Amino acid sequence: MTKRNHAAHFAVPDLKALLGGMSPTRFFREYWHKKPLMIRNAVPNLEQVLDRAGLMELACREEAEGRMVRHVRDNWQVRHGPFTAAELAALPKRDWSVLVSGVNLLNPQGDALLNAFNFAPYARLDDLMVSFAPPGGGVGPHFDSYDVFLIQGLGRRRWEISAQDDLELIDDCPLRILKRFRVDQSWELEPGDMLYLPPQYAHNGVALTDCMTWSIGFRTPTTQEMATQFLIYLQDNLCLDGVYADPDLSYSRHPGRIPDAMASGLKDMIRKIRWTDADMDDFIGRYLSEPKPHVFFDPPERPAGAAVFRRRLQAKGLRLDARSLMLYLGKFFYVNGERVAAEPGLAPLLRQLADRRALPAGDYDEALTSRLYDWYLNGYLVLGH
Ligand code: SIN
Ligand code: CO
Repeated sequence: MTKRNHAAHFAVPDLKALLGGMSPTRFFREYWHKKPLMIRNAVPNLEQVLDRAGLMELACREEAEGRMVRHVRDNWQVRHGPFTAAELAALPKRDWSVLVSGVNLLNPQGDALLNAFNFAPYARLDDLMVSFAPPGGGVGPHFDSYDVFLIQGLGRRRWEISAQDDLELIDDCPLRILKRFRVDQSWELEPGDMLYLPPQYAHNGVALTDCMTWSIGFRTPTTQEMATQFLIYLQDNLCLDGVYADPDLSYSRHPGRIPDAMASGLKDMIRKIRWTDADMDDFIGRYLSEPKPHVFFDPPERPAGAAVFRRRLQAKGLRLDARSLMLYLGKFFYVNGERVAAEPGLAPLLRQLADRRALPAGDYDEALTSRLYDWYLNGYLVLGH
């Protein structure tokens, strides 16, 4: 057993420690999407951030995305939260797991940990999930469609992995469980250890003791999702004129028949749907910066006036709220699903805000300050670094 170090405090590891001394360039070249990587002691002291009680408290919250997975006599059961403290306390000694997604939105250190993975673009980082399991607990052998970093927060877990191509799932199961799982490699993870797995890599984590796993998941839009969402974007933004007309219509004894000329005229109308690269860029910027559907912003209860805001910005700087997504593509900036109409002079500072998710204390010009003030009033950012 690892000794618990009561003096230790959690600090977000720097990039070097996070990747075990490897450069991100080498990580992407040799491991990303290619092969698993085990890094011992990459993120120590996570048990100081969230313990079992802390996670169970999150799982009871209305705004948390919680799941409970139980494995009873070869049967997998899943229930969705929020849960009550009483039902969580009544769980048996073995073979279950409670998982909470989006912990980055509920815990500031969780948010800092997720953002420590910004050696990948924010547009790819998805969320932080934290799970608790007593001995025997886990979610079964499965694969995910995204890359994942699995970090041991508390206790010990055995991770078994497989490079198998056979990804057939058990039928009629509420969880995605592999029909067959052939273990290639296995590791015991201790607190702080981190395992990277590429997408579609089969894995199975079984708790050996009371155990917590922190998973950094990546966003992998499907082609179907992109196409459907772009069609919705087009629907909202298309503006075509013209009305169907048939000055050459002639008498028909078959009124049930759609005239060929009408079908061809209507097809010509549909063919007027066109889009440019700029339309697709605009859609991509808005879509990727759109917060998840359950996310709502809390505007400040007693907002500072514009002059006080400016003084505090000068003295303390500001940072994006954990819920805010700010990205840029070409010369355009996108904040929480909206395109920002920014004067060209503002671009360097907006880029800095998007990259670092913060701006230091300083004297910023009127145009930027008033834009930031609007975002502050919406709850998109908070004063102080
Ligand atoms: C877990 O925390 O038990 C599941 C993480 C995963 O397999 O992706
Ligand atoms: Co998984």
